[in-house]
Formats: sequence, structure tokens, C-alpha cells
Amino acid sequence: MNDILNKQEIEAGINDSNSINCQVFGEVDSTNTRMKENVYDGIYDYNLIVSDTQSMGRGRRGRVFESPKGTGIYMSLLIPVNDKRENVLLITSAAAVAVVRAIRNMTDLKPVIKWVNDIYVDGLKVCGILAEAVSNKAGEMYVILGIGINVTTEIEALGENARNIAGALFDGAAPVTRNEIISAVVNEFYEIYHNISDREYMGDYRKYSMVIGKDVRYSSSEGWAEGKALDIDNDGGLIVEADGKRLTLNTGEITLRLR
Ligand code: BTN
Repeated sequence: MNDILNKQEIEAGINDSNSINCQVFGEVDSTNTRMKENVYDGIYDYNLIVSDTQSMGRGRRGRVFESPKGTGIYMSLLIPVNDKRENVLLITSAAAVAVVRAIRNMTDLKPVIKWVNDIYVDGLKVCGILAEAVSNKAGEMYVILGIGINVTTEIEALGENARNIAGALFDGAAPVTRNEIISAVVNEFYEIYHNISDREYMGDYRKYSMVIGKDVRYSSSEGWAEGKALDIDNDGGLIVEADGKRLTLNTGEITLRLR
């Protein structure tokens, strides 16, 4: 299948109401960084940037997001949040549900969400999400929503660290193009985002969680602690039971305890 990133194809697949102007690159340092520079420079021509590869793809907590050429999706969406500031913290979980819904609708795969924002298929991470808030010179706030998906990425193309946890949606030829996946993710995201304050999508965030009901290790101020993940609240917080007490994890990271 012809899988060349293409502006016209991506835009044709996006619902008109989402008014997306997409910029496609062969290579950038990072689509999030490029979008951030645009905001600093007052350039708002493009609200979706995608690239065939990234030389300095970034993950959460300063990690590298390896971005081999031609086999993955590296995309950043510019979201003005001035009138929706109270919902900024929900954007990551909304994006995770959008990716899961898009992939489930287009393929037979059964992606699930590892709190907060990683998407797994068959026990391997296939997608990461990095949402960054930025303000322009006028003080208007935007969220740059970066999504990286390993579509046909060969694990050998990744470094040693990623190789231990990463997978790809497809082994070899994909039945859908990257253009189609990008459009579907954008549509699913805006479907949620238009009504984000009703938090209806949280039902799917819980339904597709690979964490609820599992024993987890989580990072706390005193180091690593252990507990059982009971539920996810309507703000996206993970409710954990540890030593007979309940607590809600709002940020940070968990590691699923291996059995
Ligand atoms: C993570 O897994 O920690 C988050 C990874 C986010 C990667 C995407 S790829 C597109 C966008 N540009 C970046 O530099 N990072 C995000």
C-alpha cells in the first residue's frame, strides 16, 4: 500500500468542522518543538504538523521518542485553550481515548491504555502522547498535543531501551495508511474535545484501561510504593489502595507489577 504522508489525503479525511490546515515535513527535530516555535513567532497558519521522521522526538520526562523514517506517525495538533483552561489537564486522557477509538474502528486490533497516556497492543507500547502548554506573546494559551504511533516500525530500528517495551501496530504491510490513521485520530479527538467538560469519554478511558484491577508500583515522594489500582476518577486520577488506605494519583508514573 502507498503510505506516503500527504497533506491533501490527511485533510480530505478530516471532518470539515474541524478546520485543519496540515503541514507535512520529511524531517523535523520534533513536531511539538516546531509547533511551539510557530506559537512563539506568532505563526498560526498550520494547526496540524506531521513529519515522516524526527531527529529529536521527545517523550515525557525528558525522554527521547525514537522516530524512525516512514514507519510511524509523528503528529502535533495546536489547540487554543484560552476559553477552556479548566479542561487542559483532560486533553491527554481525551487523546488516549481518541487513539484507541480510531485504531479499534479501523482495524481488528484491541489497543488499551496504560495510565496516564500510553497505548499498548498485546503487551507492547505502540503509542505515546506528550501534551505541552504554551503561551504566545499576548498571553493566550495553547496546548500542543503530540502523538507518536509506531505503525509498521521495526523494533530493530529502535534503541535498546525502547526495544524492551515497544511494539508496532502492524508487522509488515499495514491495511490502513498513516494518512488515514492521522485523520481518524484528529476526528476522534475533536469529537471528544467539543464536549470535553461533560467527561463522557471517561467511560471509555476506564473501559480500555489496562491498569484498573491490577497490582501496581507507583512513584511517590518516598520512592516506589505498591498498591492495587481500583478505578479512575472523572478528572483522570488513578485511585489506588495501598496499606488499607485509598489515594488518588494525579501525575507521575506507574509500573505494572509483574506476576
Ligand atoms: C511518551 O511516550 O513519553 C510520549 C511520546 C510523544 C511522542 C510524540 S511524536 C510527535 C510529538 N513530537 C515529539 O517530539 N513528541 C511527540
